[in-house]
Amino acid sequence: MIYTKKGVNIIGAGLSGLLAAMTLAERGIECAVYSSQPSERAQSVLAEGGINAALDTMGEKDSPDEHYNDTMKGGCYIASEDAVKGLTDNAPDMVKKLCRLGVPFNRDKGRLLLRNFGGQKKKRTAFAKSSTGKIIMTALIDEVRKYENKGLVKRYPHHELIDMTTINGRLESFAVRDSFSGEVFSVTGSTILCTGGLNGFFEGVTTGTTQNTGNAAAIAFDAGVLMSGLEFIQYHPTTIGICGKRMLISEAARGEGGRLYILRDGKPWYFMEDKYPELKNLMPRDVVSREMFFASREYGGEIFLDMTGIKDTIWEKRLSDLREEIISYIHIDPRITPVPVSPGIHFFMGGIYTDNRHKTNIDGLYAAGEAACIYHGANRLGGNSMLGAVYGGMTAALSAAETAGEIRQSKPDGNACNDHMFGSSVMIREQLRDILLSGLGIVRNENELLQSLDKLSLLEKEKNIGATDQKRIRLGKAMILSALKRKESRGAHYRMDFPETSDKYRKQSVALYHNEKIEIDFCHPGDALKEVQK
Ligand code: FUM
Repeated sequence: MIYTKKGVNIIGAGLSGLLAAMTLAERGIECAVYSSQPSERAQSVLAEGGINAALDTMGEKDSPDEHYNDTMKGGCYIASEDAVKGLTDNAPDMVKKLCRLGVPFNRDKGRLLLRNFGGQKKKRTAFAKSSTGKIIMTALIDEVRKYENKGLVKRYPHHELIDMTTINGRLESFAVRDSFSGEVFSVTGSTILCTGGLNGFFEGVTTGTTQNTGNAAAIAFDAGVLMSGLEFIQYHPTTIGICGKRMLISEAARGEGGRLYILRDGKPWYFMEDKYPELKNLMPRDVVSREMFFASREYGGEIFLDMTGIKDTIWEKRLSDLREEIISYIHIDPRITPVPVSPGIHFFMGGIYTDNRHKTNIDGLYAAGEAACIYHGANRLGGNSMLGAVYGGMTAALSAAETAGEIRQSKPDGNACNDHMFGSSVMIREQLRDILLSGLGIVRNENELLQSLDKLSLLEKEKNIGATDQKRIRLGKAMILSALKRKESRGAHYRMDFPETSDKYRKQSVALYHNEKIEIDFCHPGDALKEVQK
């Protein structure tokens, strides 16, 4: 048995997990970091465009208040006001902290450069070319290694969460499996879940890494962890299908002057510029993706991203890696030729419900990063995800530090478990994905959602469904039920049968698995814990 007197467990080693580890280690608190993949392969490494902070280095008189207003508006006013205030007020310090750790953000004569991103009028997104996530992660991995050397951080890569036990609203233990030896460890102690979003529910149609299975969320939901906002799935407007996934063309391309068009009567129609003269191609992602959906339904054919007007110096200094990727995957030089694009699943606004301190409804359990639902409401602004992961990882760690106590890691009985026992079947995963996709597209309606629900009920009853797949199907049902119950259109949730936004639903949906039933309700943002505990 491994025993620590005062420590915290972290599950997940991406941006929020590393920030949590660093924050705890800085305070002399030990932590054990379990992750199904090493940090170098975390989803965060794929983040391209940048991280938002009202640093006002571009002479535009930007302020954290404006960042707050844009974030609340972009999220259609159902994120917790206090949480978003904390996020946007602290954003400049977060980016300065990353600078101190040596992250080489793009600069001009020493001045930090900021670029335009969607849903924001001011330049507010700090960037490192178009590989910002990879570059930030490199610095953080290095920083955490220092603490590892001091014995404050112990990392367990290739250890996947396979089970979680809660008793009377308290975290009892969780189990992780060593992917190489098959050995299972049982772990107790305060724990932060930094396990990322639900990409693995949408294999092949998401920009996210397929290494991120979404199993952790399904396991947590099954153990009674409250989830929220599950109907809000972000389709990024500009993606390209490549070898079994969607490749992201960063919003940075539009921030630097890229323009969307469709052929109408044989001529390019720059529909976003026509319809939204103020923010044009940089409207929030839900709006752009929906406009693309309707434009291609009306005029047929592909939608193109025209980046031919971007200056050579911008390509060289800010977008060189994006250009290389486009050339190597689809053999088009975007400096010369417009690129055909379509929306692809990119981010999950919903996830584990947390309060402003990142505490879940389960004592001793916290959540941060894309695993958590807190800052983004019905639609996330580009550039706010890395910010949410950095600030959220830090905040969750500060909260968990208050309950840091004994950590015990024990091997139950030495029995190795094979993939079959805890893995999920490819066939079931594909069926689940197709059923969810048919209900949870850019545009939804009751009939399709009900059909998806029926199909999930049938899938659930199929013979030989493993425990993990059952949990995944249950969480899938909670997504569909949340979308069914929200009889309005808001942010990324657009109902053809209820196209208006209704004040009645200016609330966050919450989903709980309780007494073998899925319960869906609506709560005032920020208040779900109080309301659910009533
Ligand atoms: O388009 C992008 O670079 C994506 C950024 C984000 O999702 O924050």
